Amino acid sequence: MEINVNNTFFTGKFLLHLPSVDSTNNFAKNHIANNSPIDGTVIFADEQFAGRGQSGNKWQTEAHKNLTFSIIYQTSFLPATAQFLLNKAISLGVWAMLDAYFRLEKNKPIVEVKWPNDIFVNNKKIAGILIENTIAGMNLKHSVIGIGLNVNQCVFADGVNATSMQLVLEKSLDRNQILNDIFLYIEKYYLLLKQQRNEVLDKEYLANLYQKEKWTFYKKGEEIFEGKIIGIDQFGKLILETMTGKESFAFKEIQFL
Ligand code: BTN
Repeated sequence: MEINVNNTFFTGKFLLHLPSVDSTNNFAKNHIANNSPIDGTVIFADEQFAGRGQSGNKWQTEAHKNLTFSIIYQTSFLPATAQFLLNKAISLGVWAMLDAYFRLEKNKPIVEVKWPNDIFVNNKKIAGILIENTIAGMNLKHSVIGIGLNVNQCVFADGVNATSMQLVLEKSLDRNQILNDIFLYIEKYYLLLKQQRNEVLDKEYLANLYQKEKWTFYKKGEEIFEGKIIGIDQFGKLILETMTGKESFAFKEIQFL
């Protein structure tokens, strides 16, 4: 795949295009340790053989069909306690790019952010985000924003609740174009974050949150219970209304069923 990035201020202006790597996030972290990468540097791989997901999961993706890359942002402006705002900005960037592609479809597909930062289309996962931050003092220093987006993959392993842009739009897509678009939208929301337009990020994130205000089942440890998402607190915890009142949950504490 030929990559040309031409529509952003800084995201992807410097891009390392690797034919094959274990994980673009790993490569990006080593790159930060050994170099002084410019803000918005991107590590892109055609093939990733040990892709990582959240909670130690694997990210498996068909080579040459999808997008797997990591953006390095210099995030020293962001207090470590406010790091969930970065998750919101990046999720919204990926969400907005997909929403723009699907907006004109007859039966408009529903694009949502599944807390904390998966992107779902019609209840199936289309993109995953793995953000890894380094911290210096009270603030972040660097953030590695790893993104896996299913573009032209049409077959997924049994039992995997996934979809791709091609499956939704019923046509194959130009990955270089999508990469340009995703950089543009991510940069747009990242700049909102830098300008401290937190109210915009909070509002749009909530407006597009998967299963918001819907009673459904969740699991904590061995306990299955009914709850309804009513918000996200300032640290990014999920706030649920349950039969026994309001409760908030950290990412590893709760599972969607
Ligand atoms: C998840 O859904 O759990 C997050 C998946 C993140 C996958 C991307 S692919 C590019 C980058 N490199 C990795 O090893 N992981 C992220």
